[in-house]
Amino acid sequence: MSFGDKLKIIMLGPPGAGKGTQAALLSEKYGIPHISTGQIFREQIEAKTGLGLKAKKYVVKGELVPDEIVIEMTIKKLESLDPNKGYILDGYPRTINQAKALDNSKFSPDIVIEVYVDEDECVKRLSSRRYCPKCGATYNLIFNPPKNDEICDICGSKIKQREDDKEEAVRARFKEYHIKTKPVLDYYKAQGKLYRIDGKGSISEVSKRINSLIESLLKKD
Ligand code: AP5
Ligand code: MG
Repeated sequence: MSFGDKLKIIMLGPPGAGKGTQAALLSEKYGIPHISTGQIFREQIEAKTGLGLKAKKYVVKGELVPDEIVIEMTIKKLESLDPNKGYILDGYPRTINQAKALDNSKFSPDIVIEVYVDEDECVKRLSSRRYCPKCGATYNLIFNPPKNDEICDICGSKIKQREDDKEEAVRARFKEYHIKTKPVLDYYKAQGKLYRIDGKGSISEVSKRINSLIESLLKKD
C-alpha cells in the first residue's frame, strides 16, 4: 500500500456509529479534509438552495438521496480540495454505484474503515444527539455535551436535533443501510481495503483504535 502524504479514507457504518465524530478527530490529528455528504445536505437544506430542496424530501424521511445527485456533488467537492491532502469521506459511498463512480474517478480510496456498533447502542446515541446548524459540530447531551447548556462550543449558535433523528426516520435509515450500504462493505473487502473497527466504548477509546490502525498502515508504507 502506498499512501505518500495523501491519505484517502472512507468511513462507513450504521447511523449513529460515530463516523462523523471519529472523522472529525482524524481530520484534526492528520490535517486531512473531512467531507460528510450528510452534512453538506443539511447545510444546503438549511440555506434552502436548489440542491437542498431536491435532497430534503429524502433526508427527512431517512431515505438515500438518488445516486445521480450524490455522485456529482461528491466528485465536485473532491475536485475542489487540495490534491496533496487526501480526504476523509464520511457517509459516502452508500451504494455500489457510488463506490464504482469513485473508482472510475481519480479519487479511489486507500482504506475503508467500517465502524461497527449494534443497533440498540446506535439508537441510544441518536436520540440524544444534537448538532450545530451553523458549523456542523456534533454533540451528545449524555456522552459529549457542549460546555454551556445547548450552545455550540465552536461558534456559539444554538444546537438542534436533526429532523432525521426522529424514530420513524431512524428506522428507515437502518433499513437503507442494511439493504443498500452493506454490499458496499463486501465490495471493498474484495479489494482488500476494508478494516473493521469496534465502535463501542468511549469516543477516545474508539479514536485510539482508529489511530493505531492508521499508524500501523503508515508504518507498512
Ligand atoms: P449522515 O449525516 O451521514 O447520517 P448517518 O449515516 O445516518 O450517520 P449519522 O450522522 O447519523 O451517524 P454517525 O455515524 O456520523 O454518528 P455521530 O458521530 O454523529 O446522512 C444523513 C442523510 O443524508 C442520509 O440518511 C441520506 O438521506 C443523506 N445522505 C448522506 N450521504 C448520502 C449518500 N452517500 N447517498 C445517499 N444519501 C446520502 O455519533 C452519533 C451520536 O453518538 C453523537 O451524538 C455522538 O456525540 C455520539 N457518539 C459518538 N461516538 C460515541 C461513543 N463512542 N460513545 C458514546 N457516544 C458517542
Ligand atoms: Mg454523521
